[in-house]
Amino acid sequence: MLPYSAVTPKHVYLNRRRFLGASLAALAASRAAFAAKLTAKKTSYNAGAERITPQKDVTTYNNFYEFGTGKDDPALNAPKWKPNPAWTIRLEGEVMQPKTLAIERIMTLAPLEERIYRHRCVEAWSIVVPWIGFPLSALLSQVQPTSKAKYVAFESVYDPGQMISSRAAGIQFPYVEGLRLDEAMHPLTLLTMGLYGETLPNQNGAPIRLVVPWKYGFKSIKSIVRIRFVENQPPTTWNLSWPAAYGFYSNVNPMREHPRWSQAEELRLGEGSVLRPKYIKTQMFNGYSDEVAKLYSTLDLIKNY
Ligand code: MTE
Repeated sequence: MLPYSAVTPKHVYLNRRRFLGASLAALAASRAAFAAKLTAKKTSYNAGAERITPQKDVTTYNNFYEFGTGKDDPALNAPKWKPNPAWTIRLEGEVMQPKTLAIERIMTLAPLEERIYRHRCVEAWSIVVPWIGFPLSALLSQVQPTSKAKYVAFESVYDPGQMISSRAAGIQFPYVEGLRLDEAMHPLTLLTMGLYGETLPNQNGAPIRLVVPWKYGFKSIKSIVRIRFVENQPPTTWNLSWPAAYGFYSNVNPMREHPRWSQAEELRLGEGSVLRPKYIKTQMFNGYSDEVAKLYSTLDLIKNY
């Protein structure tokens, strides 16, 4: 497999002349600012017969509050962001030995897979996306958790020089999220580096993010720099901001209403028309019940929303 730093940025492969002149160092530095081709093996993970959402909808209408709170702000503002070219993820907390891994190393931990997942935002819209990545478990198993480790806490990058303030966003930064250890180790939980055959654009969480397809989109934390194994349920950004609306579990659940948006239906982006938007019924666990319902067999999912 190609090392991450050797993949060809899109603007470069579209222009071979520039590619020939480009140094490897320049390629490495530009990797997060430009989409680069990313080859991955196709897998049987796909969202049934559902149509893949056009790439443009996925990359121009989304949430990444560090770049603004409007749906088009991430696509407008994140491309200017310059993530550290020497990106690392720190694995720490309740582990025998903490570790810091460079993104190039992380890219080699498991074969890259393309997985087509449904992705449901709590704001009642959904998309179907061909993500590229591998199970988060491949990264987590680089360290040995102690017997105290019950949860995994994730933290996004926060660069006040290039991102808006917590005050302007109305949520705390750095953005934090968490999963129970068994959720984090579940084979559906994807450590994600790409979409639509390319590296992640900045607005979708470059260079590395989570995708947890049976949970509302906000659990899928972007631009991860730190992962901490912990004993107690960790704080999460949206729960801190409005606990009655956002619980720790945040499993997609049409039976548990959100105070602002009905969870019974969802608007499928990129389908239908302005006059006839396409609404579909929301499914329990976003349609992934067969895989994940057993994780919650002893839990009241209305109380534990
Ligand atoms: N991660 C960070 N760091 N900051 C954010 O604002 N927004 C979340 C989640 N991850 C967010 C984040 C929310 S609310 C959603 S719906 C998804 O990202 C959107 O992800 P997408 O770009 O894949 O649609």
